[in-house]
Amino acid sequence: ILVSPDPDRTAERAAEAVLSGLARTHSGDPVLGLATGSSPLGLYRALGRAVDAGRADFGTTHGVALDEYVGLPPGHPEGYRQVLLREVCGVIGLAPERLEVPDGSAAGSAALEAAAAAYEARIAELGGVDVQVLGIGANGHLGFNEPGSALTSRTRVKRLSARTRRDNARFFTGLDDVPTHCLTQGLGTILEARRLVLVATGDGKADAVAAAIEGPLTASVPASVLQWHADTVVCLDEAAAAGLR
Ligand code: F6R
Repeated sequence: ILVSPDPDRTAERAAEAVLSGLARTHSGDPVLGLATGSSPLGLYRALGRAVDAGRADFGTTHGVALDEYVGLPPGHPEGYRQVLLREVCGVIGLAPERLEVPDGSAAGSAALEAAAAAYEARIAELGGVDVQVLGIGANGHLGFNEPGSALTSRTRVKRLSARTRRDNARFFTGLDDVPTHCLTQGLGTILEARRLVLVATGDGKADAVAAAIEGPLTASVPASVLQWHADTVVCLDEAAAAGLR
């Protein structure tokens, strides 16, 4: 657990944790798991600066999204494929054709189940995720694994909680435009990444961070599964760390 004085320093330390995790990868191309949302944006910009300084190169890296909304029209600016193209590919030089995102445009439950299974298969084909970047929801969610998610869950369709839809309405014109469902890597999927790097800043995350790190391991706080992983780096600013004892 690395506590920094401010969000910028938090992002820098998270970027170092990502780079050191990727440096000891398996024999294939590096695989970087990508969260969306506001928490990791500073981390992605810090990785971009490392590229500019010649300290990093994502030319052979595969990017694997954590989750995707279901039912947004293709090319919607808030669909996570578009967000990751903008905020990651454009910033760190990851090739768009090396970006994997669950297919949230699949229509109907059978097609969505098939898209989820295909996503798991693609991650396995890539040799698994080397470093998974994560944010945490104010309700303790990880990816879109809302409270109550099975601790061993795999990629699947989930209904977004009312709280998460409200939290994410800021990215849309209004609450009615926020999708009701998503495809998300499961908690079991996330735990298979070789390193987890969680970024949380601001006092709105303090309770969730404290519950995840110091509370019991429970499906009521999905991010508490971090306690189960042998190589988790939690990068916090002082505000997000305020609830830790
Ligand atoms: C995003 C994701 C979510 C966010 C979480 C925090 O891919 O899976 O779990 O990480 O909702 O969002 P922000 O960072 O916007 O507070």
